[in-house]
Amino acid sequence: MFDDISPRYDFLNHLLSFGVDYYWRRRLVNALPADLSRPVLDVAAGTGDVGIAIKKRHPNVVVVGLDYAFRMTCLCQTKVRSRGLEDFFVLQGDGEALPFPDHRFSALTIAFGFRNIGHYSRALAEFHRVLVPGGKLLILEFAEPTSKTLGALYRFYFKRILPRIGALFSRSDAYRYLPESVEHFPPRAELTALMRTAGFNEVSIENLTFGTVTLATGVKKRT
Ligand SMILES: C[S@@+](CC[C@H](N)C(=O)[O-])C[C@H]1O[C@@H](n2cnc3c(N)ncnc32)[C@H](O)[C@@H]1O
Repeated sequence: MFDDISPRYDFLNHLLSFGVDYYWRRRLVNALPADLSRPVLDVAAGTGDVGIAIKKRHPNVVVVGLDYAFRMTCLCQTKVRSRGLEDFFVLQGDGEALPFPDHRFSALTIAFGFRNIGHYSRALAEFHRVLVPGGKLLILEFAEPTSKTLGALYRFYFKRILPRIGALFSRSDAYRYLPESVEHFPPRAELTALMRTAGFNEVSIENLTFGTVTLATGVKKRT
């Protein structure tokens, strides 16, 4: 599905979020740890917008973008080349079975990708394994808004409007899948518990844009 929607992915992202997706990714980058002496791994990198935002703020940091969908990795690679970004590596792979040795990354980001992961605990165990002790995990994801009124409006937009606009430009089932997958995503307390169980400390969840998106962060214990 992600391979099929990749050509229109960026365009629809910016259109359907009214451009607010840039702001969400900026907030993710702002929350990166101060020490980025080891590379940053961006899982479910898609077309690479998170990695590009990281390189804009921290030009010397090594970024590795990993995604399951081959066409997404090709588009990501094209964007990296056209921007002349160095030390930005792109590869195809599975977030649940990361092709890296232990303790390799200063930070691991995953934006709008965790919801698509088949086994949350398995992925979190992998994220924990590849981070250095003291390394930070940052999960940016859609959520149910905290306000009831806004929640109703949000559900109307997500379920009735967004899939129709998506269908005009891309695979219609992909944009029906989006609200469904958000509905099935673990609520804030459950996500916090999953992250703690995987070995993360200092777990916190920040609501962005009235809670329509959350930024969950946690730090791997320093042993
Ligand atoms: C909604 S896109 C998010 C892309 C990008 N992070 C962004 O902010 O725009 C979700 C991405 O997750 C990828 N994905 C889904 N399951 C995955 C997995 N198990 N491992 C790696 N990537 C995965 C998809 O191929 C897709 O590119």
